[in-house]
Amino acid sequence: MNINYKSPGTLEETRFEKIHSIIFDDSKKGSLAIAREISDLIKKKKKQNKNCLLGLATGSSPIYVYHELIRMHKEDGLSFKNVICFNLDEYFPMSSDDVKSYHHFMNIHLFDHIDIQKNNIHIPDGSIKKEKINEYCSKYEQKIVEEGGIDFQLLGIGRTGHIGFNEPGSNYDSLTRLVYLDYLTRNDARKAFNGMENVPTTAITMGIKTIRKSKRIVLMAWGNNKSSVVKNAIEGDIDSNISASYLQNHKNVTFVLDKTASDELTRVKSPWRTGSCKWTEKLKAKAVAWLCNRTNKSILNLTESDYNKNNLSELLLEKSYDELNLDFYKRIHRSITGWPGGKPNSDDKERPERSMPKKKRVLIFSPHPDDDVISMGGTFDRLVSQGNQVHVAYQTSGNIAVSNSDVLKYLEVINSTFPDSRYKNEEFIELLKNNNDIINNPRIREIASVIREKESLASTRFIGLPDNQVHFLKLPFYETGTIKKNIPTVSDRRIISEIISEIKPHQIFAAGDLADPHGTHKVCLDILFDSLNNLKEKLFMKDCWVWLYRGAWHEWPIHEIDMAVPMSPFQVLRKRKAIFFHQTQKDNVMFQGDDNREFWVRTEDRNRAIAKKFRDLGMSDYTAIETFKRYHF
Ligand code: F6R
Repeated sequence: MNINYKSPGTLEETRFEKIHSIIFDDSKKGSLAIAREISDLIKKKKKQNKNCLLGLATGSSPIYVYHELIRMHKEDGLSFKNVICFNLDEYFPMSSDDVKSYHHFMNIHLFDHIDIQKNNIHIPDGSIKKEKINEYCSKYEQKIVEEGGIDFQLLGIGRTGHIGFNEPGSNYDSLTRLVYLDYLTRNDARKAFNGMENVPTTAITMGIKTIRKSKRIVLMAWGNNKSSVVKNAIEGDIDSNISASYLQNHKNVTFVLDKTASDELTRVKSPWRTGSCKWTEKLKAKAVAWLCNRTNKSILNLTESDYNKNNLSELLLEKSYDELNLDFYKRIHRSITGWPGGKPNSDDKERPERSMPKKKRVLIFSPHPDDDVISMGGTFDRLVSQGNQVHVAYQTSGNIAVSNSDVLKYLEVINSTFPDSRYKNEEFIELLKNNNDIINNPRIREIASVIREKESLASTRFIGLPDNQVHFLKLPFYETGTIKKNIPTVSDRRIISEIISEIKPHQIFAAGDLADPHGTHKVCLDILFDSLNNLKEKLFMKDCWVWLYRGAWHEWPIHEIDMAVPMSPFQVLRKRKAIFFHQTQKDNVMFQGDDNREFWVRTEDRNRAIAKKFRDLGMSDYTAIETFKRYHF
């Protein structure tokens, strides 16, 4: 799809939107379209014997765009000789050879792999003296003007709504300058800096006016965690609290979104408000769930006038309001089961799982060693106690999330109790005591992996699983010793395919986390989907159902839930205990995100909240519920 394409027929569909936006199935497809537009522009300018001025961004969003531009250079002969780049921003203070600098980012992700002339690269200098910053920033502005102005500006969007580092409150007329970073922005960067305390508080950024002067602007947003800020920028008023909304009256701007980033747009969230709909069963369910939420009513209390007053009259042409209510009520009711592996000897027509075979082979994939119990601990417990043969496969070692102090503790225990240990640990103990960051060291990483393995075994033994049904896959893409992971390869897919072929499961449970497109959970899911695709013709796969759970952060929307497994107060406590065995992930875990609650608290809150939602819809009053969506491959 061409991202410049505007179909007049779609104007009504997008009537709440004040910025032209295009939704792609996934971030990869969106990135390819952006790379194509950039390469077309470079070639067009070359034909005209002109330079092409690109404004570039860093962060996770543009990585695949750059990846594709490099491919075009290497395979299709795209040349960057006529390209002049200006980057949006750089942390301050920051040396350009620091691995955390945007200079380093641009080199490894783009510049080192293309034929751009080095003197055509401009990135704000984070090592400038503070008193020289104003002068430096004016020169940066001037240079852009002298070179003829930016032809194409690529942008990401921060969760504060920032473009560049123009945080809430930025002025419409702002130019390149030193800014203070918002708490949320710094928090989002804490992984890369190994802790919030190391994230700089200031940065140099192009201003709103600098960005708006570009002839063409493309902003990309991937992932569910951007969906609400994207909605505010596109559908809200121009507001200094959301800098991206300043793009609303630019003449040539497009937002390129993946499906999950577009979730909150009116045309996606409640398409009946933007025009006529093709009413699939799924959309009907979505509409009734939305109506309950909007009117604050349970399903069977919705009236004809509720439908009419809320743009849902079209739905009533097909069925009466009470039939619609009843259909949705039954759908939700049918999703609830205390038998996640299927109830033996029962009529399964109205149940989410098959009753046969009575005892199923179940394979639970867990991206990190603990997602199994955090995300589906109650269901896991039921599957085991109801006699199914359950296997758990931990996809990654999770070793970088073990703190130095935990590794030090275990090494000191070994050294004190086994002084003749065949390993010489003193050297590492000294390094760790001096608080050196040595997770890159293979031996330390190995110890960290073993710690997580043993914690997992304590947890699975508590649930009642024999050790030989617990598998540590250590997928190679993860084993870099740093936050930045490798791109998965055929070896990762082979490992997943092998374990599926060995166990021949009737049920697979996997983390269906789509919130962070570059995060470990999403990579693990993509590898699984590829493997399922490769295996699907095998006879044993005909009998295999795949259920997706969500991680500690997000919940399936009500209308997408295919199986809901209630927990009693006792089961909630058992799940909590199973999570507690992952001791290195308790208290101040290394990669907490911006939610300071511990994992067990988050998941308990979430399980209780979904139970309340079921109750509000008119279902029974459960203490907590875990939810799953079926994936058809
Ligand atoms: C980066 C920049 C920022 C990012 C934004 C989104 O040069 O200016 O505005 O584009 O913070 O970051 P990611 O893409 O990592 O979500």
